[in-house]
Amino acid sequence: MTSSSRGSAAWLPADRWQDPERIERWRPLLERIEARMELRPEGPGASALQELVGGIKMLTGLSPSLTLKAGSPLLILGSPESAARSSGEWNTLPLAEEAYVLRIKMADEDGNQACPKAEYAILRGGSERGLLYGVFALLRLMGTQPHGPRESDIAEAPRNPLRMIDQWDNMDGSVERGYSGGSIFYRDNRILPESDRIIGYARLLASVGINAISVNNVNVHREETKLITSSLLPDVKRLSDIFGRYGIRMFLSANYAAPLELGGLDTADPLNEDVKQWWRRKAEEIYAAVPELGGFVVKADSENRPGPFTYGRDHADGANLLADALAPYGGTVMWRCFVYDCHQDWRDRSTDRARAAYDHFRDLDGRFRDNVILQIKNGPMDFQVREPVSPLFGAMPQTNQVMEFQIAQEYTGQQRDVCFLVPQWKKSLDFDTFLNGAGSTVKQIAAGKVHPFTRSGVAAVSNIGDDDNWTGHHLAQANLFGFGRLAWNPDLESDVIAAEWSALTFGVDTPAAKFVEELLLESWPVYESYTAPLGVGWMVQPHYHYAVDVDGYEYSKWGTYHFADRTGIGVDRTMATGTGYVGQYAAENRDIYESPAECPDELLLFFHHVPYTHVLKSGKTVIQHIYDSRFEGAEKVERWIARWRELESEADHERFLHILRRLEGQAENAKQWRDVVNTYFYRKSGIPDERERMLYA
Ligand code: GCU
Repeated sequence: MTSSSRGSAAWLPADRWQDPERIERWRPLLERIEARMELRPEGPGASALQELVGGIKMLTGLSPSLTLKAGSPLLILGSPESAARSSGEWNTLPLAEEAYVLRIKMADEDGNQACPKAEYAILRGGSERGLLYGVFALLRLMGTQPHGPRESDIAEAPRNPLRMIDQWDNMDGSVERGYSGGSIFYRDNRILPESDRIIGYARLLASVGINAISVNNVNVHREETKLITSSLLPDVKRLSDIFGRYGIRMFLSANYAAPLELGGLDTADPLNEDVKQWWRRKAEEIYAAVPELGGFVVKADSENRPGPFTYGRDHADGANLLADALAPYGGTVMWRCFVYDCHQDWRDRSTDRARAAYDHFRDLDGRFRDNVILQIKNGPMDFQVREPVSPLFGAMPQTNQVMEFQIAQEYTGQQRDVCFLVPQWKKSLDFDTFLNGAGSTVKQIAAGKVHPFTRSGVAAVSNIGDDDNWTGHHLAQANLFGFGRLAWNPDLESDVIAAEWSALTFGVDTPAAKFVEELLLESWPVYESYTAPLGVGWMVQPHYHYAVDVDGYEYSKWGTYHFADRTGIGVDRTMATGTGYVGQYAAENRDIYESPAECPDELLLFFHHVPYTHVLKSGKTVIQHIYDSRFEGAEKVERWIARWRELESEADHERFLHILRRLEGQAENAKQWRDVVNTYFYRKSGIPDERERMLYA
């Protein structure tokens, strides 16, 4: 069995091409490589060479001869003599640190148009990291171009300065909201030694351009609090070195109450001098051990975690305390804005959880240190299948911000159901906030182009564990891949990303790859169509968050309600009659969301409480939409299964069966959602299905 059939190689080169002609076409570029760089054994340049040579061997069986010369990060593949004739501008163009340029030159044709031969390729990086990204781009080209190399001049630089992954791993080896086994980093409250898994993960992340990782859960419990103590710092350093080889800067999630838990102080008040001094000394100790550490991720005053509120201080006080301690070492504080009252009384209709982040943070604009970045979830609630964009994003022009996504499918099928999230993330990234005039899109803000941010970008909660295929559901790998590709370039289209991943995983132009691409692109709308309707969210089993439970959160303390009664459903968040949440948006969006007639269908119940007979833009009533889409969603999954069965001979057996079993599980889940949701609303509303399908009265 090949490694890719178990999935451990994921989208990296693993299987030899079957088509000898394809190998022949690449051969002129792959037999000779000249590398120019100051090679450091533990640097990203060394990894770049290793990846290139290893990848070529895997895919083609060829073993390139390697010549190493001094110089700036540059690779010449194929004939160096011909490459020397390459135009001067291309060779000297100044490049940003993470950028690369790749020129592939085909030989001038002497009548051999049908099978042009490659002559040389030049790959230059703005730094060793840039070169590493370029190598992975070249391997991706090799894997996705069925007919061999093509003449090309590619110049790429990442759009987002920070492209970060957050692990929610605990030191006992568990992963919060993990759906693919245990942690690859920890077991029994210890950091595991260097392993193929950890190196493999660093390779996967670097291959899609990720440049930062936080390695422990944002909920920092007792053992993880000790990651910043002398007993564990040498192990932290070891881990950081592994990621460093792949150009990835490591962060730790820190416990705001560490001065109490580790330092024996009786307060963590951010304005207390002893507390400030404790953090300053701690930072000195940490950076003596791990000088390259990126900094801290902090979840404070959120879901029972400690924070500055305990001392009557605000979040600028809290974040600045840590920022001042890290500043001398170039460290950054990623301060999360997921702050809301998780002890709400469901009887209290005036409190709206969606308002919370904006209400807590907006007025603090301008008070945060330059090395603080606010990390804001993409929606105002919590990674639901459909939410509007958080109104806080872009609303603080003088405060660095990153948007946080969730690759782990906590509310989107838990890597049991397929749900390709790239289209969902693109919807957020493309959203125009209008906060600095038209064109103030989330992606422009994240890229630091709208406000004078000194640090910005995107972060996401990881979906990997120690399962062989990394992500539980094999197809969930596409989400990790897709997040990296979008973080690099948010303008990439979803179908391009789905096609790349499918080709790299199932072979270029194969029937399996084509079907998987199609399935991925359909999967978010399908998942949405059988779960909670029209943006209202939740309706999941409390705590667990997978299966249906329409009233599971309805009378709870979490602030997550749908307010369905016998006449209608939805949350009135308007300024006119509701919680006023709509008022947190710029006028252009406010006007749309405020009006039930203007509000997009898919978010209607997020913003409005409407009768079941309300007619949507689609022409259907709300109740009929609920019935129709739940039936359609469940049917669609059945159709996927039928089509996948037809492809049995097209994928290796193990992966074929794995995907089949998962799809069958998804069909059961969709059926249960369909019947529970439809029955619930039929019983509430008493309105029958126009098409008289089965409802359980
Ligand atoms: C969700 C999730 C928690 C997580 C939290 C967070 O609420 O269910 O497990 O800790 O998000 O983002 O901090």
